[in-house]
Amino acid sequence: MLVSAKEMLNKARDGKYAVGQFNINNLEWTKAVLLTAQELNSPVILGVSEGAGKYMAGYKTVVGMVNGMLEELKITVPVALHLDHGSFDGAISCINAGFSSVMFDGSHYAIEENIAKTTELVKICNDKGLSIEAEVGSIGGEEDGVVGAGECADPAECKSIADLGVTMLAAGIGNIHGKYPENWPGLSFETLAAVKDVVGDMPLVLHGGTGIPEDMIKKAISLGVAKINVNTECQLTFAEATRKYIEAGKDQQGKGFDPRKLLAPGFEAIKATVKEKMELFGSVNKA
Ligand code: 13P
Repeated sequence: MLVSAKEMLNKARDGKYAVGQFNINNLEWTKAVLLTAQELNSPVILGVSEGAGKYMAGYKTVVGMVNGMLEELKITVPVALHLDHGSFDGAISCINAGFSSVMFDGSHYAIEENIAKTTELVKICNDKGLSIEAEVGSIGGEEDGVVGAGECADPAECKSIADLGVTMLAAGIGNIHGKYPENWPGLSFETLAAVKDVVGDMPLVLHGGTGIPEDMIKKAISLGVAKINVNTECQLTFAEATRKYIEAGKDQQGKGFDPRKLLAPGFEAIKATVKEKMELFGSVNKA
């Protein structure tokens, strides 16, 4: 059964580790993440962007697929199904479809509007026992066609949003979605510490988990980050493994590719990436 992310994140915050959010795009991706979490006895969050939800034929399809896998693959570790960077309407649709967690990304609104919309969603999520993530200070890079500049959040704004009763807060600390540019100055631990100072116990979320050096990940966890999102790295390893398989010409004697064999190396590559991240984040055996 899907669970809210609240308990797993509070435990992670107290235990000084982070739960990984791995974004899913298809059946293979989902199965790879769930099986790895089960093998490593780790809690996990499946992230679904609005674009990925649309691609997978809608939120209800995603919920059906994930619930089916939890049962048939005998997944017993805590799993949350979470909307990533949702709009207000997207969050409502996911709640109605059976997601156990949503992110409302109101970072591009003026703070007053972000507060008003977040307040409304917090009430709905609390009534239903779902977790809700809010964002302050946009995360840089491009995701689903939305380009952000990688701001550092204003701690006072973080406090206003945290006080609305969200479960976890994504505060921009110079992090970027996708690959980091050569001249990236690194995470702003000053901002992270200042945010932590004003939001107290609230678990913090680090977006843009691809390509952040290990020492920065560990430091961020020590400063209150309890959830780390990873997307691009799984995409890159999946694509690379598939490319190598095709280039090796492993088709069926000129009859074409068996789709199950074609996607198998990518599936294994995602498993390996997820394992590496769970070990780095410290969530192994924390289910
Ligand atoms: P990356 O694509 O950089 O791993 O970031 C993922 C993310 O933050 C999803 O919200």
